[in-house]
Order: sequence, then C-alpha cells, then structure tokens
Amino acid sequence: MANILCIGAGYVGGPTMAVIAQKCPQHRVVVVDINEVRIAAWQSDHLPIYEPGLDDMVRAIRNKNLFFSTEVDRHIAEADFIFVSVNTPTKTFGQGAGKAADLQYWEKTARQILRNSTTPKIVVEKSTLPVRTAEAMEHILNSNSDGLYFDVVSNPEFLAEGTAVRDMENPDRVLIGARDTPSGQRAMQAIVDIYSQWVPRERIITTNLWSSELSKLAANAFLAQRISSINAISALCEKTGANVNEVAHAIGMDSRIGPRFLNASVGFGGSCFKKDILNLVYLCEYYGLSEVADYWEQVVKMNEYQEAHFVSNMLSAMFNTVAGKRITLFGVAFKANTSDTRESPALAVCRALLEERAEIVITDSHALDNARADLGADARRVTFEPDPYAAAAGAYAIALLTEWSYFSELDYQAIYKSMVKPAFVFDGRNILDHRSLFKMGFNVYAIGKPPLVHF
Ligand code: NAD
Ligand code: UGA
Repeated sequence: MANILCIGAGYVGGPTMAVIAQKCPQHRVVVVDINEVRIAAWQSDHLPIYEPGLDDMVRAIRNKNLFFSTEVDRHIAEADFIFVSVNTPTKTFGQGAGKAADLQYWEKTARQILRNSTTPKIVVEKSTLPVRTAEAMEHILNSNSDGLYFDVVSNPEFLAEGTAVRDMENPDRVLIGARDTPSGQRAMQAIVDIYSQWVPRERIITTNLWSSELSKLAANAFLAQRISSINAISALCEKTGANVNEVAHAIGMDSRIGPRFLNASVGFGGSCFKKDILNLVYLCEYYGLSEVADYWEQVVKMNEYQEAHFVSNMLSAMFNTVAGKRITLFGVAFKANTSDTRESPALAVCRALLEERAEIVITDSHALDNARADLGADARRVTFEPDPYAAAAGAYAIALLTEWSYFSELDYQAIYKSMVKPAFVFDGRNILDHRSLFKMGFNVYAIGKPPLVHF
C-alpha cells in the first residue's frame, strides 16, 4: 500500500485521482486543496465540476481509498508520492506578463512539501509547466540540510474536459519523464507501476524530463494549430462559396492528416490552449527564437480573429445594429459536456455584443453559474435562463456557441414562432440542420458556409 497525494483538487486533480483510486484499490489516495469550498463540494453530492461518469465513480470509492481534505501539511507528511496539480495561469505582472506561466503557486507548493517532509518522496509534475521547471523544483526540494532526497518526475496530463474519465481510463498514451540516474529511473518505474495497473505497457512512454515537459506544451500547440488552420480555411470558404465541412472531410480522409480536430468553430476555448501556447511563445522568445515564437503566436491571433469575425458577421447580418435587441446565446461552456467556462469563446462573443448594447440571454444546461462568476460586473446586464425555449422567446437572434447535443434536438419550429422576425440563427459550431432551419423561415449563418437568407 502506498500513500498517494495530489495537491490541487481542480479539473485535473479530481478526475485523475478518482481514476487512480478506482484502478488501484490497494493504494490510499488523498486530494488536498487550499480552497475549502472546493473540498467541501468534493465531499458532497454536488461535485465542484461536471464530468460525465465522475459522480458515480467518486460516490463508489469516496472515504474508502479516495479522500478529499484541506489539511495539506498533514497529508504531505504522510505521502509517498505527491502529484502536484495546482493551476499554472498566465502571468499578469512583471517580466513575461501576458505570456509566461505564473509559477507562484507551483513554487509555494514545492516549499510547502519541503517544510512538511521527514521522509524522501517522489514528486510528480502533473500541472503543465515550462520546460526545465523540474530543475527549479529539484533545487528547491533538495536544498534541505536534513539529508532528504526528492525525485522529481514529469507526468503531464492529456485528458480533455467532458471526456476526462474516459480519457484517464483509456488514454492514448501516458507520458513519464525522469532523470537518467539510478534514483530517477527507480522513481519513474514506481509511476509506471501505478499506471500499468490498467494501461497497457506499450502505451506508457518514458522519456527524459525535458522531453516530457515540452511534449505537453507541443501537444496542445499542435491541437490548437489544427483548429486555427481549419478556422482560417473557413474564412476563405465564406468568401468563395466553398463549404468548410466538405473541405475538412476531404482533407481529413488523407490518412496522413486524419479526420479529428477539424471542426471549424467560433474559436477554441478552455483554460489551457491559449495559456500553453503563449507559454511556448515566451520560451521561444527567452531562447532568442523569435521566428519560432511568431509562428506559434499566430495560432492564438487566428483564434482571436475568429471570435471577432463571428461577431462582425452577426452585426452585418442584423443591419449593422444590435443595440437594444434581445440575442440568445445557446451555450456558454467552452465545449460540450463540461460546466467549465474558462476562456470560452461564448464569453468573448457575449462581451462584444454587450459593447454593442445588445440585450443578452444565456442558456446552458450546466455552465450558468460559472458564466455568471466569470462575467463579473457584466453579469448584471445578462439574463441567465436554463430553459432554451424561454431564453429564445422574444429574441431577434440565436447564436449557438457550445456544441451541446441537446441544442440540435430542440423544436425550432416553436422557437421560430416565439422570436422577432426576421429571425436569425448564427451557428458557431455547425451542428444544426441549416437547410431545415432555413425552410422554417430562419436566416441562417454558419461557419465557413454560404449564408441561407430570405432577403
Ligand atoms: P484548477 O484551477 O481547476 O485547479 C487547481 C487547484 O489547485 C485549485 O483548486 C487551487 O485552489 C489549487 N491550489 C493552488 N495552489 C495550491 C496550494 N498551494 N495548495 C493546495 N492547492 C492549491 O486547474 P486545472 O484545470 O485542474 O489545471 C491544473 C493544471 O493541469 C494546470 O497546469 C493545467 O494547465 C493542467 N491541465 C489542465 C487540464 C484541464 O483539462 N483542465 C488538462 C491537462 C492539464
Ligand atoms: C485540451 C486537449 O485536448 C487535452 O489533450 C489537454 O490535456 C487539455 O487541453 C489541457 O491541457 O488542458 P480541452 O481544452 O479540455 O482539452 O478540450 P478540447 O476538446 O481540446 O477542446 C478545446 C477547444 O477547442 C474547445 O473550445 C472546443 O470546442 C474547440 N474545438 C475542438 C474546436 O473548435 N474544433 C475542434 O475540432 C476541436
């Protein structure tokens, strides 16, 4: 039996540790956080995050071999393995502001581990970090005068929200990086042993520390780059009469390109893509690679363009004014099947439409609370309505911004009747049946397709 601790009970710490606890009943897994409200929620019937499959899993093993606690110091002292899964947001101040990772939570955690340890431990980087962070971590942890030795291992997380449980249970790969020393290799093997309880050995990749750290940033950059690439093509489709779905299908059939992650959209959101690419950009600049930095920064710029372009299309379609018009946003989560609204393109669209003095109504099955919190003072100017029919009634336009499947199953005939005419639909995810909406009377604007309009 080993004591596994995870520091940080967020979108990564909660689901990953729930799966490790479920797959390794012989180990005791504790997840700690300084946020008392979050820990109380993990201990309750209303978990702090929505993830399909997570509620049942947590309920089955909580207080058996999975525990949630705010007693960080005590659990550090007891742990054999410490996974660190604290947030690593973009720095908002000083050198590198707006790009570099803010490592203050990370360093505080390292010092807290050191303060509370009386036995050697394996410290696992789960958070996404700039390449070579492990070196700093080793310096801090091994700067003690008690003869304690800490191994630092990199084990970045590749799960996506909305499919976190499935991704953890059946990962494409697990990546573990460690020092090429006897102690580093032993630490790496210990982490391999945990995952090999359920992950086939050939899907567990072991590398040096820096490759592991950099692979995480590179993987997110490549994924986001695909979305920006198809979104760039979608803008050209709109000008030329090509249909981006048909183009994506045609290029995705090439087995060298592959079909996934080619859905043109209003833009990518989520807490990580933008932050991780900007972190990569900062690292390139730091090492004097300005052309490489510019190349990756363009992926983020393209995403900002896509959000702005969506709002411009709305404005020009609606006779260049939305002031005083009720506009309903279908979805505010950054993607389907999550309650997370961090960096959601829906919030960017919402803010831009508020600037234009539109009256905004937002409907979403799981993300309204987070949206209200994220919008801050702007939330006072927004109506939050869980029922999509009530949200759309009296609206001039619907903007579909999250690909929740229930949005394609609504009775659009009834919705059309309840709206102001001419009624508009702007499908920012290309999930609706555009022809049939057009036949009902809607003016339909999709991403990367010719609009279907009645005038
Ligand atoms: P999160 O903000 O949801 O959770 C982080 C938690 O760490 C918070 O609850 C915070 O209170 C806690 N914390 C911060 N400092 C602490 C301290 N000193 N002691 C105890 N708790 C502390 O963040 P997240 O989405 O879970 O992401 C965590 C890391 O994982 C980030 O580096 C992120 O880039 C990476 N990541 C996230 C995802 C994802 O889907 N969200 C996927 C892969 C990797
Ligand atoms: C992403 C990666 O997919 C994970 O591998 C990674 O672990 C994680 O970031 C992270 O490091 O945080 P996530 O952001 O949860 O996961 O969700 P994605 O499925 O990647 O979607 C990101 C955004 O891109 C969403 O807004 C989604 O709607 C959008 N997207 C995705 C598109 O617009 N088109 C697509 O084809 C795919």
